[in-house]
Amino acid sequence: MGETAAAERAHLIGMITGAWKTRVIGEGVKLGLFDKLTGGPLGPDQLAQATGANPDGVMRLLRALATLGLVRHEPGNRFALAPLGQYLRKDAPDSLNGMAGHWSERMWNSFTGIGASIATGEASVPSGPEHFAQHQADIGRADVFNRAMAEGSLRVGRALARIYDFSDCDSVMDVGGGYGALLVGPLEANPHLKGQVYDLPTLSEAASRFLGEQGVAGRVAYVGGSFFEGVPPGVDCLMLKFILHDWSDAKSLIILNNCRKAVEDGRILIIERIVPETVSEADEEVIRGDLTMLTVGGKERTEAEYHALLEQAGLKITKIAPIDAVYSVIEARAA
Ligand SMILES: C[S@@+](CC[C@H](N)C(=O)[O-])C[C@H]1O[C@@H](n2cnc3c(N)ncnc32)[C@H](O)[C@@H]1O
Repeated sequence: MGETAAAERAHLIGMITGAWKTRVIGEGVKLGLFDKLTGGPLGPDQLAQATGANPDGVMRLLRALATLGLVRHEPGNRFALAPLGQYLRKDAPDSLNGMAGHWSERMWNSFTGIGASIATGEASVPSGPEHFAQHQADIGRADVFNRAMAEGSLRVGRALARIYDFSDCDSVMDVGGGYGALLVGPLEANPHLKGQVYDLPTLSEAASRFLGEQGVAGRVAYVGGSFFEGVPPGVDCLMLKFILHDWSDAKSLIILNNCRKAVEDGRILIIERIVPETVSEADEEVIRGDLTMLTVGGKERTEAEYHALLEQAGLKITKIAPIDAVYSVIEARAA
């Protein structure tokens, strides 16, 4: 076998067996290994003692993490945090700690049903408004999901604030905002702006704690309710990030109609990853999102699909701008 063929084969084997990486990284995060190594290299026995796990199991997990380049195996059988592993610390800037936990638990389970979803085009894991409400009511388990969402939304919100002009907005509501992380960037960049988070009532306490940690609690109010029942009026800008992708067109139309009624002549910002008309390897993130959404009955959409959906809700798109390489903001107003 030539060198190229061997490298291609190894690359493909990496993809075929990729699932193990999700779990190994998730278990490392669950044991807090990346946080515990922040102070310097430690041996497996020390980490086993600190985590209450089996020393041989911890040793083997650390070796696995070393092959992934997340920790470094040093002489004397000690393990040090590698530069890539820094992102898995809970308190790292741009942390991916929450995402790792979310993928190792909820996403891992939802992908077991992907075959059924491909066969039927239907959700294969429990989904729908009642399921979301039930999930979010289990405060501890929901926190893994909500922190994962917040991690990404902090970054996207700060990037959004760099490319989108909020100067003529007084108040902005993060609809289905979870912990409201998306608001942090626009509030930091626009001292005049006031925020509201609108999400299920059970998130109120954890969201307020998170917003306090981010230093914006005094400028954000939490409003509990369901966007299928209605959206509170009174703000001039609504933001929906990762909301429409959770739902079918029929359910998305209920949400959008409620948003249109609430915002009157204000604007709605939809923050999503848009599926290009023709995909390439560069589009892995949005397409991964689309298959994930297939398992819960949602979908990622093309620009043409957003135009059609919004038109049905009595809205027109007034602007579409890239936020970064992956996310876009779609600005819409009543037609
Ligand atoms: C995929 S998460 C996105 C969270 C946040 N927008 C973000 O991107 O970080 C979907 C959010 O919709 C909220 N949600 C689900 N059903 C809802 C409903 N009926 N009314 C209000 N919020 C709801 C969930 O609680 C969750 O926070």
